Amino acid sequence: MDMGGGTTSRIRPEPQTVHSVGPDASGRDSIAAVDVFCGLGGLSFGLAAAGVDVVAGLDVDGSCRYPFEANVTGAKFIERDVCDVTAEELSALWPEGATRLLAGCAPCQPFSSYRKNVCPSSDDRWALLRELGRLVEETQPEFVTTENVPRIQGKAVFGDFVTMLDRLGYSVDYRICRCTDYGLAQDRRRLVLVASRISAAVVPEGARRDRPARTVKQAIGNLPSLEAGDTHEADPVHRSRGLSALNRQRMAASEPGGTWHDWPVDLRAPCHRRTSGAAFKNVYARMCWDKPSPTITTYFHNFGAGRFGHPEQNRTISLREAAILQGFPVDYRFTPDGEAAPLTTLGRHIGNAVPPPLGEAIGRSLLTNLREAGVHE
Ligand SMILES: C[S@@+](CC[C@H](N)C(=O)[O-])C[C@H]1O[C@@H](n2cnc3c(N)ncnc32)[C@H](O)[C@@H]1O
Repeated sequence: MDMGGGTTSRIRPEPQTVHSVGPDASGRDSIAAVDVFCGLGGLSFGLAAAGVDVVAGLDVDGSCRYPFEANVTGAKFIERDVCDVTAEELSALWPEGATRLLAGCAPCQPFSSYRKNVCPSSDDRWALLRELGRLVEETQPEFVTTENVPRIQGKAVFGDFVTMLDRLGYSVDYRICRCTDYGLAQDRRRLVLVASRISAAVVPEGARRDRPARTVKQAIGNLPSLEAGDTHEADPVHRSRGLSALNRQRMAASEPGGTWHDWPVDLRAPCHRRTSGAAFKNVYARMCWDKPSPTITTYFHNFGAGRFGHPEQNRTISLREAAILQGFPVDYRFTPDGEAAPLTTLGRHIGNAVPPPLGEAIGRSLLTNLREAGVHE
């Protein structure tokens, strides 16, 4: 199996024992999903939009409960360390006889009991993928999907995961997906893997791949103006981080698409005065209206952490703007009514999320896979 990149696809060689496959009692093709490492529900929301029945999401971080349950209709949130979840507990979440999907986007920076007493090597950063692998091996659901940063492809943990799926008889496909192809105004690349025990798995192509990418202007150009450090009165999630006096000056000296090279020398950070700075050009920078945004990371509210300055207002993008660039609908409920939106926590969850449009494309592809399996039965 080619582990070096590109698309790898394999049709399952022999018939497998599977749960009921195809239409449910109402005649509808249905898949029941459990999403481990569910976060605030980016992947689950997208899967549900495609018609997948997401029954539960598990995450060690209880702050994901409200957004997950408020937006992924009918799914329950379970606050749990995935390392402690048994096959029996997981199996009990899927409805009896359902066609099962196990979805799980393991973090690349786990924070859990998992690593207590473990000295992290560079590969340990992705070790929670092994926990997803364990649950796949123990429950062998009809479908599996996972998403991660592209560089996981070169890690042993990913090779082991694919080898395990192959050994269990899954058809496996994985590919680096460009989120602009799925309609996002964001230049984000992610490795997506789908595996099926039913028919040939396919990572879906983006419907917009032959069209120009959507731009920052198209995505967030209509949002109300905001000052740095303020929260919009009608939307607590339209909130931006405050700037120090020095960063206000730097922001004012920044051009859309430019770099800190454009600033007067006295505004530059000491390290930028010393070096050519070629490697650090995309920090303390503004986005361009007429291009997609850079990858929205968990630190997008921090001016020094990337090209996260608003194209024309003197502030970094707000939580709401980041969520929209991540493909969340404008009415996604991140906080209960009347509560403030916590910048750091919500920023982390938004930056970590699988963009819902990518989740939706994955869900559609799995449902197509299910229908095709029915045709061939
Ligand atoms: C990449 S994010 C998942 C994003 C999510 N799939 C989405 O689309 O919104 C990884 C998640 O794993 C959670 N996590 C980290 N360690 C965990 C553990 N040991 N057990 C369960 N969840 C864990 C984090 O809280 C985080 O929400």
